[in-house]
Amino acid sequence: MKPALNIKSVNKKFDGTVALDDFSLEIPQNSITGIIGPNGAGKTTLFNVITGFLPLDSGKIIYNGKNLSRMPSYKIARAGIARTFQQLRLITRMTVLDNILLSFQNQAGEYLKNTFLFPGRVKKQERKNREKANELLAFMGIEEKAGDLVEDLSYGQQKMISLACCLASGADLLLLDEPVAGINPSMIEKILMVIKKLPEAGKTFVIIEHNIEAVMRVCDRVIFMDEGKKIAEGDPESVRHDPAVIEAYLE
Ligand SMILES: Nc1ncnc2c1ncn2[C@@H]1O[C@H](COP(=O)(O)OP(=O)(O)O)[C@@H](O)[C@H]1O
Ligand SMILES: [Mg+2]
Repeated sequence: MKPALNIKSVNKKFDGTVALDDFSLEIPQNSITGIIGPNGAGKTTLFNVITGFLPLDSGKIIYNGKNLSRMPSYKIARAGIARTFQQLRLITRMTVLDNILLSFQNQAGEYLKNTFLFPGRVKKQERKNREKANELLAFMGIEEKAGDLVEDLSYGQQKMISLACCLASGADLLLLDEPVAGINPSMIEKILMVIKKLPEAGKTFVIIEHNIEAVMRVCDRVIFMDEGKKIAEGDPESVRHDPAVIEAYLE
């Protein structure tokens, strides 16, 4: 099967720092790939260049046959790639439901014009979106939180909502930056269960995560990176036993 995402020899420097060093990686369709590595390894930079938040210096990124390398980030989002952030970027003074509604794509552009010209169409679309948002929350087991303000939720619940917003975008490739770091075990379990169910619904995940146990449980494949390079790659068990990985995580 063709890879969903093909990253070819990508380089990215910040002044003197080499953040990505001739980095290549293929992400298969409907897979869950974990990316581990010490702080400063270049993991978040990888997400930043895939999503067009930062330009790459050289190399290519191909998504479903399209070259993303010079595309602006809004076009990359439209092509079907969404991400979460280490700092969650939710609108904390709004409800969970409204955060999800904001994440549905392609509403804003046509919205004002349609409000004047086709008010009935807008109402119908709003009703549909509400239904879709509630279905998504139910799928994730958090429907009872729909009307709560995000600021009143625990950090773990907020991480779940940021995953829900990422899914609400309708993207097929989801890049999650530390989806379970720093939250309690029962919430970790809930988030992993949601992620695990989604490849069969056509979703592909790349997950940066410090919680190695979580990565080992949910991922099909794991990449260990350091200093912008891929040091090890394989199934979770083989990467766990790679000497470079053992050294990095026992220190
Ligand atoms: N926007 C930026 N400006 C300057 N340096 C950056 C920037 N983003 C990342 N870096 C540097 O690039 C390296 C990789 O960072 P990052 O991708 O955030 O690592 P990780 O997510 O693996 O901890 C680090 O040395 C970091 O300081
Ligand atoms: Mg990071």
